[in-house]
Amino acid sequence: MSLARGRPSAPDQQPASFAFSEENKAAASAIIAKYPEGKQQSAVMPLLDLAQRQESWVSVATMNVIADMLDMPGIRVYEVATFYEMYNLEPVGAHMVRVCTTTPCQLCGASGILDVCRDELGIELGGTSADGKFTLKEFECLGACVNAPIVWIDD
Ligand code: FES
Repeated sequence: MSLARGRPSAPDQQPASFAFSEENKAAASAIIAKYPEGKQQSAVMPLLDLAQRQESWVSVATMNVIADMLDMPGIRVYEVATFYEMYNLEPVGAHMVRVCTTTPCQLCGASGILDVCRDELGIELGGTSADGKFTLKEFECLGACVNAPIVWIDD
């Protein structure tokens, strides 16, 4: 079951711990080093992105590790992760399919595209296909209305 935006996933989905891979530890250090002394907390978004690229989602344990790395309260990391739609707060499929459902895209056929995605993947919005390959989400305007309707797949 998909949970409302703004809350981390159910406790039974939460791993007990998180650690960056050796490669990503080095990448995280390089990211943090880009910020001036005392402003390292500004690295919170790229570190959340890095963690998500490693795990496919951002768990509470992940947010706590990032909070420790940046010497900031965990709640500040949770605030960022739960505000921005691009962070997955629960496990997702290997590929993310996002359909823009804002009015200009709706007027250009977004509902039909959403129906095709639902039928082909056999899932509803927020769901993940049985093979774990695809998660389907809707998105608000991606600022590309001139090319509507817009579907955003992975990066
Ligand atoms: Fe879909 Fe703007 S309404 S990109």
